[in-house]
Amino acid sequence: MSEKNHTASVKTADANLQSLPTHIAVIMDGNGRWAKHHGLPRIAGHRRGLESVRTMVKACADYEIPYLTLFAFSSENWKRPPAEVGLLMDLFANALEQKARRLHENNVCLRIVGDTTRFSSKIRMLIQRAETLTRENNGLRLTIAANYGGRWDVTQACKQIIQEVAAGRMAAEDADENSIARRLATAYLPEPDLFIRTGGEQRVSNFLLWQLAYTELYFTDTLWPAFDRTEFEQALASFSERERRFGKTGDQIVKQHRIRNA
Ligand code: FPP
Repeated sequence: MSEKNHTASVKTADANLQSLPTHIAVIMDGNGRWAKHHGLPRIAGHRRGLESVRTMVKACADYEIPYLTLFAFSSENWKRPPAEVGLLMDLFANALEQKARRLHENNVCLRIVGDTTRFSSKIRMLIQRAETLTRENNGLRLTIAANYGGRWDVTQACKQIIQEVAAGRMAAEDADENSIARRLATAYLPEPDLFIRTGGEQRVSNFLLWQLAYTELYFTDTLWPAFDRTEFEQALASFSERERRFGKTGDQIVKQHRIRNA
């Protein structure tokens, strides 16, 4: 986890911010309601949601925010009507096929986390192709959580430990928080500094359960397709105003800040 957040020094960014998050995680909620408000089918909301993904990726790159993680499809989303699941899968496949090159040109490194075994072989192939294409890029690290669940993630990490203990490669008494953290699907990422959920609900909904332990939570009623750059800057401004204590007292944080700036 990055206790020290980087300071905004980006010329292209408009907001005057004291500190910026290093890693932002987002639940993109409200596509269906946005479509309904506009008299459109739900899939039109998801398509518009993809536009907001583009806006968000661009804004993170402008603000030099290194890590962005988006919850595109939860383990629970399979329970939606089959027609909507099918259309979401088509949208995911098209996005992987059509946007991967553009992400690559913009130096974005793309990773998909989640139980991808349940996806079609076409989607699995497109995931592999997009990840391979963008692997060496050192700009924004964009992670898409697809068929992801926080409980699934902690469970699969624990299973790895159990298997290693059973195989004699690890002693049971050596298992600790770090052993779990190192085996999470997001082990290559720092823990999120800022969590954003659009669409009015104030829940974490089985997203990055372990990883969000010290994350600042930001909820907005704005529906995801309407979440634009101004909304994003409001979330950054809210984050910038918060005092992150990581279990310490306020006085300790002030002292730490003085020492750092001396
Ligand atoms: C939640 O809105 C959104 C989803 C389940 C899908 C998110 C998908 C996208 C934003 C587009 C695709 C993105 C990628 C990265 C390929 P909801 O349907 O639950 O909305 P509601 O709560 O208003 O019904």
